[in-house]
Amino acid sequence: MRILITGANRGLGLALSQVGAERGHQILAGVRDLHNGKESLTQLELNKSITLLPLNVINEESVSLAAKSVKENFGSIDAIINNAGVLLERDKQIEELDLDQVKVTFEVNFFGPIRVVKHFLPLLMMGDRSSIINISSEAGSITNAYGGDYAYASSKTALNMFTQQLSQYVSGSNMNVYSIHPGWIKTDMGGDRAPGDPIETAKGIFDIIERKRVIDSKNVFISHDGYPMPL
Ligand SMILES: NC(=O)c1ccc[n+]([C@@H]2O[C@H](COP(=O)([O-])OP(=O)(O)OC[C@H]3O[C@@H](n4cnc5c(N)ncnc54)[C@H](OP(=O)(O)O)[C@@H]3O)[C@@H](O)[C@H]2O)c1
Repeated sequence: MRILITGANRGLGLALSQVGAERGHQILAGVRDLHNGKESLTQLELNKSITLLPLNVINEESVSLAAKSVKENFGSIDAIINNAGVLLERDKQIEELDLDQVKVTFEVNFFGPIRVVKHFLPLLMMGDRSSIINISSEAGSITNAYGGDYAYASSKTALNMFTQQLSQYVSGSNMNVYSIHPGWIKTDMGGDRAPGDPIETAKGIFDIIERKRVIDSKNVFISHDGYPMPL
């Protein structure tokens, strides 16, 4: 399968690129800073199955150019993984929140996936094995709101709504459309104390994309191992 991954140069995106390439998929690794991306992705020594793609999800022109380049060079894709994300204004109380940072959070975590789907959906095969995966977070659960991370949590709630709307839009096809909570994992965002390994999360996500893990729920918000999450 040919799979677009955003934010592919580090963290979960890098793990997804690694696992995807190891499983024989062709990875279109979206990176906003090509130099930064090349360094880490080259270390995988799997470059033949990984193509670096300049892609800054906050810039619609960048997303549009990336889609044009994929169309010209590959024609179509089988899956989109909207992984790029930021966690800003951590631990800030509402009284001290910087609204500009809230806006940046929404630009990346919410408008970013919308831009990517807008421009890449026409390239997505409508076959049985196609998928749109939006990497979300349990922080976006309204049911389990914990009174913090206003920007991040709200952006992921909005992302879950986008996923729900999209799944309705493509409901005539057999496309998989999910928001996936990846667990608390060791990355720059998750920190060293996180118990989870991004590689294990990536394997779970690829099991879902490859239909090895059949989802036994109508819920579009699920965990990386395929269980429903509370919206
Ligand atoms: N880690 C966790 O415990 C955890 C838990 C729940 C959900 N998540 C979600 O999992 C996803 C991956 O997180 P992570 O832990 O791997 O985070 P990370 O280590 O901080 O990596 C974030 C990635 O997003 C990219 N990115 C940021 N802004 C971008 C933009 N404008 N355009 C393109 N790429 C951009 C970064 O690229 P640069 O290197 O260029 O900055 C980087 O590749 C996120 O959506 C996050 O919300 C993570």
